[in-house]
Amino acid sequence: MEIQSPKGTRDILPSEIHAWQWVEKVARSVFETYGYQEIRTPIFESTELFVRGVGDTTDIVEKEMFTFNDKANRSISLRPEGTASVARAMLQNRLLDATSVLKLYYIGQMFRYDRPQAGRYREFWQVGVEVFGADNPAVDAEVIALGTHFFSALGLKNLTLRLNNIGDHACRPKYVEALRAHAEANLDQLCGKCRGRYQRNPLRILDCKNGCRVALGDMPKVTDYWCAPCREHFNVLKGHLDESGVSYEQDPYLVRGLDYYSRTTFEFMVGGLGAQDAIGGAGRYDYLVEELGGQPTPGIGFALGVDRIILALEAQNVEIPIQSPVVVYIAVLGDEAMPVAFQLAQNLRYSGIRADLEYTARSLKAQMKTANKLDAQYVVMIGEDEIKAKSATVREMGSGDQQSVAFNQLAETLSSK
Ligand code: HAM
Repeated sequence: MEIQSPKGTRDILPSEIHAWQWVEKVARSVFETYGYQEIRTPIFESTELFVRGVGDTTDIVEKEMFTFNDKANRSISLRPEGTASVARAMLQNRLLDATSVLKLYYIGQMFRYDRPQAGRYREFWQVGVEVFGADNPAVDAEVIALGTHFFSALGLKNLTLRLNNIGDHACRPKYVEALRAHAEANLDQLCGKCRGRYQRNPLRILDCKNGCRVALGDMPKVTDYWCAPCREHFNVLKGHLDESGVSYEQDPYLVRGLDYYSRTTFEFMVGGLGAQDAIGGAGRYDYLVEELGGQPTPGIGFALGVDRIILALEAQNVEIPIQSPVVVYIAVLGDEAMPVAFQLAQNLRYSGIRADLEYTARSLKAQMKTANKLDAQYVVMIGEDEIKAKSATVREMGSGDQQSVAFNQLAETLSSK
């Protein structure tokens, strides 16, 4: 029996890769326009990092991590998200010593032992940004505007931005207490999971997938519990967004599934994806760095799901620039032609022309078929006559026109076309 890829994973095939490469290219280009630099962190980390960073009462840490002991009995987890890793890397490499504000981006796989379905995988890709060192709401506005800019550069439409502020250490405890009291008064309405964890983390009721928030009716709203600085932070942020024309929906129940958030939280949703319509999640995490052993350092960032972005691009029929695999296909006619064709291909490639050649000595007709399949613009034919004349027969596939081009002129002639 053939071995299959593990459940929840899949191959991204050459026929689909252009969409992925394009999304990554647009991400790099837009993120770098805003002054963000790329960082690459390990795919696995100490389990402790996520337990402390993401939070031990979150679904991610409670049941979705790929965790194992290495040969020296250290507990290791495949990263379920990027923020904790980037914060660790920032601290470990003292990246904030050299600058007052640090702006980083990343592109890579994340792993969650989730129930696979359309748009939800066990290995999935995120592009994300993280900013350390500034709690100014203008930074929140920049991160939100950056996400919006990225989606518009991709040509995605029908996006919704849900926005909230979940309070800080001064005001959130009172809000959490109010939620706990409300839950306690309505215990019979809670699902088993929420009943088990509402004491430890009642915020989780708000994003319970079993619908506890709706079941509990009019839950307390964080907006009624904000301290003055949180209210001010949110109002200034909204001012920046309004001025720059970024639209959003305020949602006082948006809490997100990770524990490190404080103040600003937001999510991007996209139409046409069905249940898995959260295309990006984000927020401020002003206590995370301290939680990981560093000095108090504010931070904010987002992560966008590339798999879902690709599904949304398909659902919205967004045209993605496609590059054919080769521009030139060299047809090799006869054994003596191979060394000549091979050298010509190398010359073309060194001139930056995407070229391939025939290795299996088939008929000209079969070789032309391959050239067509590869969407080559030119076929360069090399046979006995061409070798004698030191001149290739070049056929333009679109028009069918043929001309003879001296071997030493080939690269130049084809580059100028
Ligand atoms: P998150 O909301 O857990 O946030 O994930 C961000 C995005 O990753 C989601 O909106 C979704 O598009 C995608 N995603 C998550 N799980 C899956 C899955 N199983 N299959 C496919 N796509 C998925 C975070 O990860 C935070 N680190 C975001 C952040 C960065 N907050 C601050 N900075």
